[in-house]
Amino acid sequence: MRNPFQYGGVVTGESFCNRTRELADIRRSVENAEKLFVYSERRLGKTSLIRKVLSELPEQDYLTVYIDLWPTDGETSFVLACAKAFSEAMATSTDKLLKTTKLFFSRLVPSVSANDEGKPVVTFGFDQKRPDIPLLEEVLAMPAKASANEGKRVVVVFDEFQQILEYESDNVERLLRSTIQHQSDVAYIFCGSRKHLIRQMFMDSQRPMYRSGAHYPLGLIGEDHWQGFITEKFKVTGKSISTDIISKLCALTEGHPFYTQHLCHPLWELCETGGAVSDEMIGQATELLLERESYAFMNLWDSLTRNARRLLKGVAAEPLGIQVFSAEFIRKYQLGSSSNVQRAVDLLLKKDIIDKEEGGIVIPDRFFRLWINSKQNN
Ligand SMILES: Nc1ncnc2c1ncn2[C@@H]1O[C@H](COP(=O)(O)OP(=O)(O)OP(=O)(O)O)[C@@H](O)[C@H]1O
Ligand SMILES: [Mg+2]
Repeated sequence: MRNPFQYGGVVTGESFCNRTRELADIRRSVENAEKLFVYSERRLGKTSLIRKVLSELPEQDYLTVYIDLWPTDGETSFVLACAKAFSEAMATSTDKLLKTTKLFFSRLVPSVSANDEGKPVVTFGFDQKRPDIPLLEEVLAMPAKASANEGKRVVVVFDEFQQILEYESDNVERLLRSTIQHQSDVAYIFCGSRKHLIRQMFMDSQRPMYRSGAHYPLGLIGEDHWQGFITEKFKVTGKSISTDIISKLCALTEGHPFYTQHLCHPLWELCETGGAVSDEMIGQATELLLERESYAFMNLWDSLTRNARRLLKGVAAEPLGIQVFSAEFIRKYQLGSSSNVQRAVDLLLKKDIIDKEEGGIVIPDRFFRLWINSKQNN
């Protein structure tokens, strides 16, 4: 029988837990053609949530465009990614795809092929003979044009939006701002996972996107929702789990969707068909998981400076909200001085190993934190 717990990719249908309120909030924002920033730490379920919102919009009324900016590294790849996503969203046939691209992009030369399912897939090249036409403007004008052309409402999603901070200039950011301000009929969702960067992008008055939309921090999934979800998954596969054990599991993962599904996966494997999950199995499942991850964790650990490791040990061992700059913390974890702490914090933030929360510094990877603690106790 197939393991009912999924972790890693986008989850849909039966594998999608709760988020009822979030689905409704984001749907409303789309219906009002708002500009919304959705952000959270990594793997909290942003993409799954947004995909679900898009899939539930009536096709006859909405044109939905989803653009993953992860592979882009500058203005050119941004333009190509947008052009591709817009064209493919609008075209149901190869013919239409070619017409669409000609209609909307004067400087991009499309070539179309079919994928395994026979759906048209487009790749673009540039028309070098017409370098005078600004590509970025043309691509960003597309949603409003498409809306008028198709007689539909348009929703544009930029996933992994923090990526545009890696571009060499802030041209894209600036032009996006002025574009979205004028496209009052188009809904935009900007999704990102490096929380501090995304926050900085629209809360720093020096930045082009400053206050250009509403913001929506995505939270964890509460234990009450996991209770029903996890119980059901075990039940339909002929196994059982008590509410008490689910509580313990959720305490370990804090209800973080990825880590909760990830831990449920080996737990389900450990439990025999017809049997029930025992208390010890939680410990075994955690060990199994840390063992599988230990090679990656070890490499990461080895790549860090001594002070960064000491800081991590402290943050992992102490309760949430610990003051890492306090004299006591510095002494206890042999950090020497507050400037050492600062350097370690900067390094770990840059590497996305820690994050700044209202309550202080956190290690978002729940398993890395457990691994650090288990290493410390050895
Ligand atoms: N609503 C949900 N119900 C159950 N599991 C979920 C849900 N949302 C996310 N997950 C779990 O988290 C994993 C990551 O989800 P997803 O890729 O949507 O998150 P993300 O925030 O977009 O991640 P990233 O930061 O890598 O872009 C999924 O594979 C799944 O295990
Ligand atoms: Mg994602």
